[in-house]
Amino acid sequence: MGYSEGIIYLSDLIDMSSVVIEKTAFGTLPSNEAVWCYTLSHPQGGKVSILTFGAALQSWQVDEQTDIVLGYDNLAAYQQNPHYLGVIVGRYANRIAKGQFSLNDIHYQVPQNQGGNCLHGGEQGFSHRNWQAEIIEKDGLPSLALKLTSENGDQGFPGTLKAEVHYSMPAANQLRIEYRAMSDRDTLFNPTSHGYFNLAGHHSGNALAQQVRIAASNVLKIDETGIPLGPLSEVANSVFDLRKPVTLGEIYSSMPEELSGTRGYDHNWCLDAYAPEQAACYAGSLMAPALGTELQVYTDMPGLQLYTANFLDNGLKGKDGADYGAYHGVCLESQLYPDSPNQPAYPSACLAEGNTFYSRTEYRFITTKAAE
Ligand code: GLA
Repeated sequence: MGYSEGIIYLSDLIDMSSVVIEKTAFGTLPSNEAVWCYTLSHPQGGKVSILTFGAALQSWQVDEQTDIVLGYDNLAAYQQNPHYLGVIVGRYANRIAKGQFSLNDIHYQVPQNQGGNCLHGGEQGFSHRNWQAEIIEKDGLPSLALKLTSENGDQGFPGTLKAEVHYSMPAANQLRIEYRAMSDRDTLFNPTSHGYFNLAGHHSGNALAQQVRIAASNVLKIDETGIPLGPLSEVANSVFDLRKPVTLGEIYSSMPEELSGTRGYDHNWCLDAYAPEQAACYAGSLMAPALGTELQVYTDMPGLQLYTANFLDNGLKGKDGADYGAYHGVCLESQLYPDSPNQPAYPSACLAEGNTFYSRTEYRFITTKAAE
């Protein structure tokens, strides 16, 4: 339903029955399992392709010419995908310090797959699995439901976790992502969608002329391995103040000291609008002033990681022969704060046995000025 009390959004009223979902073959895994591509088309605009492998957002055609999502056109590339292009990340997005945490007085060690920390739930996390797809319809809105069972002990995490991600298009060029999960033992859960966006098109080179905005008065400062130092830091009078839009190229033209270790933004902001049990609120935007377009993010999660593809290898081959490189895409990843299992003051990532996890994030592409 609507996102703020008393406001009913148009997207809740439109007859959505005409969203079309098509299925095509994308590839076959060595196990002979088929990987499918599902394309959701909204009659008023926007075509989104999702793969069963990694539950990945593979493309988003906002108009005939412009696909705003970086991706690959072959399965082998998704099986590698060291930069997590487009995929759903889990069980725990972002980092857990040294891959260690305690839950119910039991100590767990999960993979230390980046700089001594656990990144994105380990190398064989949700991003590298083939999900089961089903087309469902709820309140007249067709959705693509992707399902995955992660067994007890998968990547070292406790509990057999049954996860679902639903993709739908409630309005033209709006992508809704809903997460659900249940575990048979207390566990951790912190999923995200790792789309790299470029409003000028995935093959248009760097996105440094684009702007970012994040509705957050606080950010998490990090150590040299990307782990939050602890307390929330006020953004005022710093390069982390994105409450008014900033142009990436202007900030990066002489790389500020605070961003040099990460070669740019790769931090988590603490969203002002967040409150537990609250519906999704506006979190931030990527904007292309020259094009008059904007991608807005709405979420019920407390954090937003901004990552500007600082470490994308130059010459990485993308869809349609595109050459990707550093700063070619911008990730706005809704999630819990990094390393929350080791930071009792942060919103908890604990999913209790038998409880249902639910979270919703929406990406809304809008035009901010009329075409000339
Ligand atoms: C997240 C991390 C980055 C990087 C990317 C994927 O955004 O914070 O450091 O690992 O994922 O490459």
